[in-house]
Amino acid sequence: MRTSSLLVVDQEPEGLRAVQQSLRPLRRRWRLRFACGERAGRAAAGRQTFDVIVLAVRPPGRDLLRWLDELRRDGRTSETPVVVLASPEAHEVQRHAIRLGATDLLALPIRREEFLVRLNTVLSLKQRQEEIQALNADLAATVRRRTAELERSRLDVIWRLAKVGEYRDEETGNHIVRVGRYSHLLARRLGVSAGEADLLALAAPLHDIGKVGIPDSILLKPGRLSLRQRARIQTHCVIGANILLQKPRGWPGVLDRPDAGAGDNRIVRMAASIALTHHERWDGQGYPMGLRGMNIPLMARIVAVADVYDALRSARPYKPPYSHEQTLSILATERGRHFDPDIHDAFRTVHDAFRAIRAECEDDPPAANDDRDETPRILPLPVETAET
Ligand SMILES: [Fe+2]
Ligand SMILES: [Fe+2]
Repeated sequence: MRTSSLLVVDQEPEGLRAVQQSLRPLRRRWRLRFACGERAGRAAAGRQTFDVIVLAVRPPGRDLLRWLDELRRDGRTSETPVVVLASPEAHEVQRHAIRLGATDLLALPIRREEFLVRLNTVLSLKQRQEEIQALNADLAATVRRRTAELERSRLDVIWRLAKVGEYRDEETGNHIVRVGRYSHLLARRLGVSAGEADLLALAAPLHDIGKVGIPDSILLKPGRLSLRQRARIQTHCVIGANILLQKPRGWPGVLDRPDAGAGDNRIVRMAASIALTHHERWDGQGYPMGLRGMNIPLMARIVAVADVYDALRSARPYKPPYSHEQTLSILATERGRHFDPDIHDAFRTVHDAFRAIRAECEDDPPAANDDRDETPRILPLPVETAET
């Protein structure tokens, strides 16, 4: 246990000697410093920190009271206990000392036993206070660490859910990453707040999660789809929204509540809205509801531009990839038809950044003899380590 330190300041040498005498029993257990006058006291306090400061304030005592005020305002000493010694008749000094935040008041001349008991009490209170502060700091750090872990695992699960959707038709692709990044860029360009744009970057990759409900024979079919097959593929919007909005029943833990669902998860709520409406068109000719213009949620109108830009730049079973310039021309013909004109115009001001994202997040090259019927390669598993 560390040795406690005490500073005693008295304006009068006589008084200081008296205090010194009474503290003799503490000499071995405490580090004691004595200063005569306010200036010597300030100098001692400037050299080291003390666990307790004792000020013998004799009327009018302005210097020491001013210093007490400063000690209380100084972040380094505001929590240091300050015991004021004053004569019982010095009412004004006592009142002033209490107002300024003295921890305890003792009468001069001091009575040794009382003085020692009170100093021990003040000191143990301070030690308890320090222990509580240390515990609180520990607790706060643990909460911060756990919250960050939880947030990481939440984002990780959302990302992997999006990847499940993408895996159906683009095993080696980075489409969802790019759509998230384009959408974020476009949203910021349109004046969407940084917080909402960050949510969009995480929610947009889930736009096609409903494709998990579409059979491969339709989803991967090269060439034209029949009307029936096209209608079937269009159900991925509703399937996606249902996956994201469905209320879990009987699921253990916090989700097992009557109000559980996407309602309390803003990313999932936004993702559900985008999954449902990302194929709506500005002119009302989209699906599944034929929404028109501003009735289509803003985030879905943004994702529509991002999604189509990336789809046009990518090879699909039914088409080759288009160049950036060809894609710009095709998108321009859809201004005010497929796309919100304002969002299309905003896209035109940042299209170079779209091209850069596309180049930076290229699809992974397919494995040699890539064949979906072959056993997939196993990624190296991380080594499990015991939690410390
Ligand atoms: Fe889609
Ligand atoms: Fe997509």
